[in-house]
Amino acid sequence: MTQQTTVYLADYRPYSHPLDRVELTFRLAPQATRVVARLHFRPDPARSPGADLRLDGEGLRLIRLALDGTPLDCQPDDTGLTLPAALLPADPFVLETEVEIAPVGNTALEGLYMSNGMYCTQCEAEGFRKITYYPDRPDVMARFHVRIESDLPVLLSNGNPAGQGPGWAEWDDPWPKPAYLFALVAGELVALPDHFLTASGREVALNIWVRAGDESRCAYAMDALKRSMRWDEQVYGREYDLDVFNIVAVDDFNMGAMENKGLNIFNSKLVLASPETATDTDYERIEAVIAHEYFHNWTGNRITCRDWFQLCLKEGLTVFRDQQFSGDMRSHAVKRIEDVQALRARQFREDQGPLAHPVRPDSFVEINNFYTATVYEKGAEVIGMLKRLVGDAEYARALNLYFARHDGEAATIEDWLKVFEDATGRDLGQFKRWYTEAGTPRLTVEEEWKDGIYSLTLEQHLPPTPGQPVKAPKVIPVAVGLLNPNGDEVQPTTVLELTETRQSFRFEGLASRPVASILRGFSAPVVLDRAVSAAERAFLLAHDTDPFNRWEAGRALAKEVLADLAAGAPTVGPDWLEAMVRLVQDDSLDPAFRALALRLPGEDDMAATLAAAGKQPDPAALHTARRRMAAALAGALAPALPGLMEATQITGAFSPDAVQAGKRALHNACLGLLSLRDGGAAAEAAFAAATNMTDSLAALAALLEIGRGQPQLDAFEARWRGDRLVMDKWFMVQVLHAAPDQTARTVELLTARADFDWKNPNRFRSVIGALSANHAGFHYQDGASYRLLADWLLRLDPKNPQTAARMSTAFETWRRYDSGRQGLIRAELARILATSGLSRDLGEMATRMAG
Ligand code: ARG
Ligand code: ZN
Repeated sequence: MTQQTTVYLADYRPYSHPLDRVELTFRLAPQATRVVARLHFRPDPARSPGADLRLDGEGLRLIRLALDGTPLDCQPDDTGLTLPAALLPADPFVLETEVEIAPVGNTALEGLYMSNGMYCTQCEAEGFRKITYYPDRPDVMARFHVRIESDLPVLLSNGNPAGQGPGWAEWDDPWPKPAYLFALVAGELVALPDHFLTASGREVALNIWVRAGDESRCAYAMDALKRSMRWDEQVYGREYDLDVFNIVAVDDFNMGAMENKGLNIFNSKLVLASPETATDTDYERIEAVIAHEYFHNWTGNRITCRDWFQLCLKEGLTVFRDQQFSGDMRSHAVKRIEDVQALRARQFREDQGPLAHPVRPDSFVEINNFYTATVYEKGAEVIGMLKRLVGDAEYARALNLYFARHDGEAATIEDWLKVFEDATGRDLGQFKRWYTEAGTPRLTVEEEWKDGIYSLTLEQHLPPTPGQPVKAPKVIPVAVGLLNPNGDEVQPTTVLELTETRQSFRFEGLASRPVASILRGFSAPVVLDRAVSAAERAFLLAHDTDPFNRWEAGRALAKEVLADLAAGAPTVGPDWLEAMVRLVQDDSLDPAFRALALRLPGEDDMAATLAAAGKQPDPAALHTARRRMAAALAGALAPALPGLMEATQITGAFSPDAVQAGKRALHNACLGLLSLRDGGAAAEAAFAAATNMTDSLAALAALLEIGRGQPQLDAFEARWRGDRLVMDKWFMVQVLHAAPDQTARTVELLTARADFDWKNPNRFRSVIGALSANHAGFHYQDGASYRLLADWLLRLDPKNPQTAARMSTAFETWRRYDSGRQGLIRAELARILATSGLSRDLGEMATRMAG
């Protein structure tokens, strides 16, 4: 395995040599790009006197090295270049390097690489060191001037344009930035142009750059960008700060997108959308990610991170901001439910297993392995809790202070919390544990009703996580409301602040024993462990005024039904079915909300819930139980389905807005249920009639789910074989809906196809990611899927370690299952670990998961 050196937060030291300015010249060539860097250092005798100058550099061929024009003879090592202190002047000096790199061979998609003939970069977290020798750390912030030489027509970098001519272009970025925000793009691209006038009257040229032919699919992303820019002005008082803002869509990209200053680079699937090619979910995601990357301009770029342990400082806050934005653009209730579902599916799962780590980790081997649901999504939850605790007005004051105090700096979580302490007068010492301790707290509840006083006793339990066996109590904001038995709210939402292990809260002056709605809006990322009768859950599902808890009541009921069925219950009881029949026909409820309520709990979600309660999930039994549950629901709803589908049929032009999307979601949920009863007739008709991708894909999924759909798959392929993004969906849907005993086989057939371009991360994810997302298929008893996943990880690892490591997290849940499955998964992890030349990325993940 590649060397596994652990980096510790406690070892942080400021960089020895302040760097002011950087001039870069790129002479682009696929095999041999030359990069000339002139680094303007300004020695500071107060900082690390007598220190050597260390620059990071990996995979670079050093051509030339000079200090103030005088050639130097220093040999680089595998990870960089050291200039001995004795060689360094006491006055400002310029270090010039020239290196050669080969973008065309760069399959890791980190640093400067090529995608479909276009040059592009991905530098976060530590990719800039693959471009030139540099202090590649976020606390070194410098102004960049970039010259690109190439015959390609479009040459882009960060900042403002600073001249161009035949075969060259220059860019100047006036804002100091760390190297991870550097970007360069060169290619035969066309733009969808637009412009934006900022609140203070600055005219900004906007461009979305794509391959010719794709311009027609950029309108939604552009619209989302302009709405994001306006929203950040109106809600956070943050204006854009350059003359241009460029977005580029790239087909080969490891992650979703990247916030490089003034030049955001996106995975093309998060930019390109048309009604025929993108689903409503795609549109929603595009809007969210466009906003996310734009919002980074202030939370990430103007104020960046001191070191990579502080990643949540920019990511948690920026996710929180994009969630607020999406809520404002669409529906807060629906957005919150979706976000909590995603949090539970990815972050709770992470917290429950061997990869659990704090929102701010204190050590890592490979930082790319820490772009996790914990850092991002739990990081956002922590900010949501902070806002709830201090209130909206104080939150706004604190954010203003944060921007005023730290603009232009590389900051820490301590800085962030200090801002809140100074703005609000609160002591956040205990709150900080949310950043430093891993694990999902469990909250138990005791109720008492006596002499007109209702008391709630809350107790927090903090499960051990790797390296953190014992934990101190956390500050947990618990939003609570009380309802009368007739359904009226007698106590509007109030936030109880749990700070001790066990604490009681009293509500007086009540005429009758209330029904409590606890953890409204999911006010804290905890598991609420509370035995509630099915009747009370049904009551809350019918009456709760908090939309999240209303959904949650239905979800809890459904999980109980599913668990009972999997444990051998003969039938589905009436409580949940009757509640669903009522809810789905309640036209006062948003169709999107109803569609979410109709969605059955996922099998992985259920397995996690069982495991957390100390029970062993049986993947096959869960799968069968879920199918039986769906059949029972379809039966109970049968009389209502035709009317509902009629009422949710869209007439008129397609719009990706939340209202239409919600109707389509409910319509297609009904179609899925109907297919369980009509042999697929309605879904076949729907597929034939579909005029947008949401409907096509929903009909296809409904057919595959009942073991049909081959003619539709063929028709889909015939129509879309030339479209990479759409074909990703074609690959994925087949794996997601394959029967448990057919899943591995389906993957084998798909991966044998010539168009299974496994070096493209989107295509790899669409098949291999779907393999592990098909719970019953992945955990099929013969272990074939485990073996197949390990084979593919080992094949991808030498080419693209980052994506291989990310996909390996499918194995993180092994402890949940029976000893047979545990043994099979552990054998695959052992096989991975025994492979020679394993990357640091996959090596770290496999080591932690096996541990
Ligand atoms: N900062 C980017 C975002 O939040 C993510 C980039 C992560 N890239 C990586 N290679 N780890 O959108
Ligand atoms: Zn981000």
